[in-house]
Amino acid sequence: MPSTNLHDSVVILGTGGTIAGAAGDAHDNVGYTAAQRSVTELLLALPALAGSRIETEQVAQLDSKDMDDATWLRLTQRVAHHLARPSVAGVVVTHGTDTLEETAWLLQRVLAPLKPVVLVAAMRPATALAADGPQNLLDAVAVARTPGLRGVLAVLAGRVHGAGEVRKVHPYRADAFDSGDGGPLGVVEEGRLRRFREPPAGVPLGLALLEGAASPWPWVEIVTSHAGARVDAVRALVGAGVRGLVLAATGNGAVHQALLPALADAEAAGVPVWRCTRCASGVVVGTQAGLAAAMSPWQARIELLLTLLAAPPRPAWPVDPAGPKIALHKP
Ligand code: SIN
Repeated sequence: MPSTNLHDSVVILGTGGTIAGAAGDAHDNVGYTAAQRSVTELLLALPALAGSRIETEQVAQLDSKDMDDATWLRLTQRVAHHLARPSVAGVVVTHGTDTLEETAWLLQRVLAPLKPVVLVAAMRPATALAADGPQNLLDAVAVARTPGLRGVLAVLAGRVHGAGEVRKVHPYRADAFDSGDGGPLGVVEEGRLRRFREPPAGVPLGLALLEGAASPWPWVEIVTSHAGARVDAVRALVGAGVRGLVLAATGNGAVHQALLPALADAEAAGVPVWRCTRCASGVVVGTQAGLAAAMSPWQARIELLLTLLAAPPRPAWPVDPAGPKIALHKP
């Protein structure tokens, strides 16, 4: 029966991904092309939602590995636009799985929405024999309509993850996402959200931060500390004009000694260096913990990017070619 609630509209914004992907053979779960079906077509595959108050809008059509600043800006603007409408209960974003957690964190930090913004994706294309997209989309719409829910969330394989914790942890299986030590925020069962805990509240940085940013956005790169790490990699990035570095450190925030002089020089030249762990879950603990201690490297990259947009740093002092003046900063 059609809803009589005038405030339960859901807007589904399409951006592409495997959920909109197509293969030539229904048995092929890997040899497909992402971003082939429109978001309206995806909705048509769900007769259960016929008559439901849903709007669709195609914001982009890409494989999320190719996500870029311009698409992020447009998506953030469209999400903000629809959230401001009183009739809209929540927004769903169909997305690729590969960079879903990055988009989730960007939207959360910029908008910190008071209504649900639900990112949804699939590991198998829309043409697959057992496509996971339709069920995920159905679940996402249910979550977007859940009264009292807020924040940017991700819904996949029946689980609801928060923007700060969601990680893609598997390249193939349908249940490819995880929330680490804390576990998911809830599960969706037969169209109902069973909540385990509430998403943390956040203070929005504001859309104006992105709208006022020059294009391209500041260049922030991730450097991994690993066996055989070479100082030349950091020096090349700084020499090429990188504006910020995220260090994906080993274990509990440890850094290969070969990288330390160049990292210290980078900081001295005004290039902030944030440190997090390259471990798949957990946080950096102890004196080396800093601003990025609990973030994944790609999440920290966005955080540093937003920090640079909000307050671009000035060089502390000219780099001394004779060697580093300071120890590696602990953000
Ligand atoms: C993508 O990220 O767009 C392709 C991969 C996927 O959605 O699983």
